[in-house]
Amino acid sequence: MSLLGIEDLGRPEIEAILTRAKDFQASTVKYDTLKNRLLVNLFFENSTRTRASFEIAAKRLGADTISITASASSTSKGESLVDTLNTLGAMRPHAIVMRHAASGAPHFLARYLPTPIINAGDGTHEHPTQALLDARTILDNRPSLEGLRVAIIGDIAHSRVARSNVHLLSKFGAHVVLCGPATLLPEQLAQLAPNVTLTYNIREAIQDADVIMMLRVQLERQHETPFPPGDYFKFYGLRLEHLPHAKPNVIVMHPGPINRGREISSEVADSNRSVILNQVENGIAVRMAVLERVMGASQQ
Ligand code: NCD
Repeated sequence: MSLLGIEDLGRPEIEAILTRAKDFQASTVKYDTLKNRLLVNLFFENSTRTRASFEIAAKRLGADTISITASASSTSKGESLVDTLNTLGAMRPHAIVMRHAASGAPHFLARYLPTPIINAGDGTHEHPTQALLDARTILDNRPSLEGLRVAIIGDIAHSRVARSNVHLLSKFGAHVVLCGPATLLPEQLAQLAPNVTLTYNIREAIQDADVIMMLRVQLERQHETPFPPGDYFKFYGLRLEHLPHAKPNVIVMHPGPINRGREISSEVADSNRSVILNQVENGIAVRMAVLERVMGASQQ
């Protein structure tokens, strides 16, 4: 069973993963649940957190892992994606974690290969394990997602993190406010899911927010002239002066990597409202829950 996106995942499956992840939180215990199982990490785009946490998660569950980066693999020698994946498939992994710059690449391969595929980010489309670890982090700070006001601010157009979060939060009855400059916030995103509204004004987005989720400006996906960095911070950078407009116990999130002074000030990133490092920690717990589900004994 692959994990390709949040859009097609039901509430019970999401709840099961989030509940199981809780068992793995704040622990470095090693299990042998996935002993003799092989996980291939295949990253065609840069990654620090996602890749390391999948690897740590697999090792904590006793699996063997190998990590392959595109620049060091045969795709740089002209091999097609399908041939690379078939080659890896012939090594009989029990799952492949894959990140790719093309939206839909993991869905395409999941149709070709018998091996379960876990999407670790496909272009501007989805990043399901990020939304799951974000939900885990919110639920560590709030009793439920229902009725929460979540402001997602930044380069929404190019963000797979925003899309996966919108799907998840909407399924659980949170109200999502998407905010960014008009060039990075296409109007049709309001139709992505129920309970989504748009604003181009950061103050409006933050008003009474339970959660503020900041996003990096994804220059690698922008083919037009980017918003000038100085102006961007002035209009869309999160600073301490913004926080009093949110709920007093607001939490500030960011999937990383953060660009201090660009989308978030250091004072906010390092403040006691920030849960950015909790997100990183939850990344391991959530990915353990996902790997157990995808590669565990009941799956073979
Ligand atoms: C995000 C990604 O790759 O989509 N990073 C991550 O997985 N933690 C966000 C980003 O790169 O800005």
